[in-house]
Amino acid sequence: MKKVEDYYVPWVKGIPMYVSGHIELAWRRPELHRMMSNENPNPPSKHVMAAIEKFGAMANRYPDQGLVVRSKIAEINGLDGPENVMIGNGSSEVYDNIFRMFLEPGQEVIQHTPCFGIYKLRGTILGGKMVSVPMIYKDKYLHFDADSMLKAITDKTKIVVVANPNNPSGNFMDSKDILRIAETGIPFIIDEAYVEYAGLTKSYVGLTKKYKNVIITRTLSKAYGLAGMRFGYALADKDVIAQISGALLPWNVGTIPMWAALAAFEDTEALAERVKFNNNAVDFITTELNKVPGLVVFPSQSNYILFDCGETGKKGKEVVAYAESKGIILRPETEKYGSDGWFRITIGTKEENKMVVDVVTEFLTK
Ligand SMILES: Cc1ncc(COP(=O)(O)O)c(C=O)c1O
Repeated sequence: MKKVEDYYVPWVKGIPMYVSGHIELAWRRPELHRMMSNENPNPPSKHVMAAIEKFGAMANRYPDQGLVVRSKIAEINGLDGPENVMIGNGSSEVYDNIFRMFLEPGQEVIQHTPCFGIYKLRGTILGGKMVSVPMIYKDKYLHFDADSMLKAITDKTKIVVVANPNNPSGNFMDSKDILRIAETGIPFIIDEAYVEYAGLTKSYVGLTKKYKNVIITRTLSKAYGLAGMRFGYALADKDVIAQISGALLPWNVGTIPMWAALAAFEDTEALAERVKFNNNAVDFITTELNKVPGLVVFPSQSNYILFDCGETGKKGKEVVAYAESKGIILRPETEKYGSDGWFRITIGTKEENKMVVDVVTEFLTK
């Protein structure tokens, strides 16, 4: 008789549950300052809270497939209607759905690294092969490398994914490079998780009208400040949305997040406040930490900032450990480009931002 292990799908065998160690730590030790996961430090607005309460009282009812909130999203983005919008339980679920509709075992997804780790996790579940094209580290800046991304395309390429702005580098790809990738006809996911911080004028949603292969993804986890609620969406041509929606789990987005999301979209003032607060904080931390000799501060259009302290003689992991000893959780980054000085700071409250500047400055200059 065969063992149960022999029946597992070969490419999923041994894949562990995804556990984000620093998020586990933050929930275990709530006294620590969470400056590691690109969350929003501000709690939901009172309008969102009212929707959570109102629809919490109707939690005995199944949700629909989000017709009202999808219509609102279409309106905000200048699209025809709900047929251009698919919603998910966070944008992580949205990639999962898209990947399922394009990727077969052995086929390839091109990503631009360093980048968000979930693309790889979801691609691997499907037996896909991730082709990672590194950004170029030059003149204290991480440059997108569209030439190498285009060169990496093979007849097995099923998806190209670019976060724009990118996590963790914080910058946008040039529009001419976005267009060059769109022109290939290969399904091209532009992950706009952080685009609201720079404004929707930076979005490439308009391309979905010309290029059926362009799919935009967004989330409420960042500028809208609803990471724990889990709500994300995809925008694309209606035929493409219809096809990728075929893989949706029925009732994947619950009644409460769906209506709370609608309240968040309607509360434009709350979004504007959060964006303004964030962008001021990015300026503050950038200016202050640029004063540390040898520290490379990457310009960010998002709610986090990437650093390379390799030249200071200290390691990124040491900065993170020191910050933790002072009560702040930061995000270490793997060694790359011959430097072990990488770390990332997520914007916190005003007090937290001041504190992180002091702690990092103290550690790197002593
Ligand atoms: C590039 C990128 N995309 C998407 C997400 C958000 O995922 P979700 O919508 O599942 O919270 C993140 C979160 O860190 C991210 O960095």
